[in-house]
Amino acid sequence: MVKATETGSVRRVSKVWQSQPTLEGAGVHLRRAFGFHEAPRLDPFLLLDDFRGENPEDYKLGFPWHPHRGMETITYMLDGEVEHSDSLGNGGLISPGDVQWMTAGSGIVHQEMPKGDRKGRMGGFQLWANLPAGHKMMEPRYREVKNAEIPVVKAPGGATVHVIAGEVAGVQGPVREIVTEPEYLDVSLKAGQSFTHPVKPEHTVFAYVIEGEGYFQPESESQSASGTGSLVLYGPGNSVAVTTENKPVRFLLVAGKPLGEPVAWRGPIVMNTQEELRLAFREYQEGTFLRHARR
Ligand code: CO
Repeated sequence: MVKATETGSVRRVSKVWQSQPTLEGAGVHLRRAFGFHEAPRLDPFLLLDDFRGENPEDYKLGFPWHPHRGMETITYMLDGEVEHSDSLGNGGLISPGDVQWMTAGSGIVHQEMPKGDRKGRMGGFQLWANLPAGHKMMEPRYREVKNAEIPVVKAPGGATVHVIAGEVAGVQGPVREIVTEPEYLDVSLKAGQSFTHPVKPEHTVFAYVIEGEGYFQPESESQSASGTGSLVLYGPGNSVAVTTENKPVRFLLVAGKPLGEPVAWRGPIVMNTQEELRLAFREYQEGTFLRHARR
């Protein structure tokens, strides 16, 4: 482990692992970068699913009606579309480059049904962020951010960055007011480029490699390249530095403020205590789950 006295520095990689094949929803084949077992190391984040697929048989059953409480989901589409509808009365298509930011708060019931593009391709990422105790029962919120609203920035060193949340080169992303203050960037480097980005010292920071391969800590450190499907978890520090050699890389860079609270988690519901969890499932069974439904 890096000592606390070294926090005024470029972050070093603490651990790297590969996303794993997982079956979710009504039978969707996806890759999970982290979930229940890894979540304690990724506070405030709970789960990251990479649901890119080439074959409609792998995803067409989708994620039919299910509840969420006590957390937020952030869905970022790359290919194809997801047809979404929820108990707040929201509905529509999430298209390539769009972001859906859903705060379940006290409760939401929704469905997410993937549709492939002409070649049958469909995919993107769903990140779950936890809510602190004081916000778990907040009024649910739903936002859709269209591709055109997400700024694309050329950063020093050559990187092209889609700024979904956070700030790069003085440009702020459109997703704000999220409780855990997350940053969410989609970063592309060509061969031989570099990207340096300041992060808050107290934040949990990770990268997930979408494609290609890159080096996720300063060049002087001995390290091997991390490739497609790698989850790169950072240790302490106040910036990250990524470089490429002879291959390009595209990755998500995500940071957020840890909550440091007990987590009681079953399926789509994430609370602080087992009693709150039992109550949520009982309410769902009894039809009293939704506090803020509009239809
Ligand atoms: Co859901």
